[in-house]
Amino acid sequence: MLTGEDLVEEYRRTHQGSEKLHERAVKTFAGNGATHAVRVLDPFRPYITRAQGSRKWDIDGNEYIDYLMGHGALILGHGHPAVVQAVQEQMAKGVHYGENHELEVELAELIKAMMSAAERVAFFSCGQEANMMAIRLGRIFTGRKKVLRFQENFHGWADELTHEGSPGVVANEVNVIPFNDLNKTEEELATKKYAVLLTEGGGAYVNGRVPIDIEFARALPDLTRKYGTVWVLDEVVTGFRDAPGGWQSVVGVRPDLTTLGKCVGGGLPVGAVVGRTDIMEAFNPMTPPERRIPHTGTWNATPLLCSAGVAACRLYQSGEPQKKARQIADYLRERGNRVLKERDISGRLYSRTVVHLYLGPIDCEPSDDTMPPTRDMKKLMNPAMEPVYTRLCLHLLQRGIAVAPKGFYVLSAAHTTEDIDQTIDAFSDSLDAMIEEGTLGEALRVR
Ligand SMILES: Cc1ncc(COP(=O)(O)O)c(C=O)c1O
Repeated sequence: MLTGEDLVEEYRRTHQGSEKLHERAVKTFAGNGATHAVRVLDPFRPYITRAQGSRKWDIDGNEYIDYLMGHGALILGHGHPAVVQAVQEQMAKGVHYGENHELEVELAELIKAMMSAAERVAFFSCGQEANMMAIRLGRIFTGRKKVLRFQENFHGWADELTHEGSPGVVANEVNVIPFNDLNKTEEELATKKYAVLLTEGGGAYVNGRVPIDIEFARALPDLTRKYGTVWVLDEVVTGFRDAPGGWQSVVGVRPDLTTLGKCVGGGLPVGAVVGRTDIMEAFNPMTPPERRIPHTGTWNATPLLCSAGVAACRLYQSGEPQKKARQIADYLRERGNRVLKERDISGRLYSRTVVHLYLGPIDCEPSDDTMPPTRDMKKLMNPAMEPVYTRLCLHLLQRGIAVAPKGFYVLSAAHTTEDIDQTIDAFSDSLDAMIEEGTLGEALRVR
């Protein structure tokens, strides 16, 4: 069994091409050779050359079952034939006209058809740009400046979206309060100073590592209306991943504005703000200058992006890819939780099509495994556990399973039961190795 230093040695031996690229990369990319915080790992993550369906391959020929899935963007899996064909055809016809074109209209119409709150649509380059614009729209509409956000809700790295107190960040008008706290939310909104309340769909951090209380979510539309604040729901992850109507259709809420990204682009970069016509009138050239936004952006709704987005959204409309991803996620959770139980490990796999692994104290037994076994945000987001998740990540990589270092598994319609069976073998083997090498932490073993 691969344990201790042997794991790192064996990983280096079987990833020599990746190590060479990593050595080149660290001389150029300041982020320890990586271009995204999630791609940093000690000693290094593999360098990928090709991906198809649920799998990807690295420069050394190692094969992985992929649970990164383009940071959540690829619910259809890698290289879906309909998307590939659409992009190849569009590539030959031109990637950017600097003009209006039919595909952008079609993509917007598909979004409107799926999400009833999308009265109007505006496109951007990525999810955080959409969030930044949603804040601007809210400010213009209300004539107020302040933004109310919730702890651990992730919206991007821009000043007004990122973690409170991060170095270099200026966000004087942003207030971040405890999540799921209805009284505190009403107390703040009642000051009538807030332009925008920004909430992540499904819960805090990647589709709900900290789930949102449904009653809390359902109270937000009335509460924001009562105090004249624009409610922006960030569905950058959940938009068309949870259901054709997004997470809002699952819960039955109608936000003033919704931000979208990831899945909408079918694998190409996209962001969108969709929502109320009156709020989005700020984009109308007839609106008086003091309430108007000149909407620019080189990469807004390029024909190439829209070709992929249209092909993907046509498939999302049926709800079939989402259903498949949900079923396979159910299977992963069910089998994975059996593995944890058999080993008396205190932890649980939970949530929906992004399956989160939680290792830590079990405070409650939820009625189903879409919910974690504690509602304590500090436990669910415990930074002290990060070395454990990271060690598991390395064990899994060496066994052909690619996950994010923070321990979540992004499922797609391309994952199969065979993929899950293979993943579970690697998962059990990795946990056994960690028990043997003592890296799981004795506190995690249930006595
Ligand atoms: C909920 C949420 N909102 C916004 C963003 C930012 O999107 P992008 O990375 O496309 O700018 C992310 C990115 O992961 C996200 O998870």
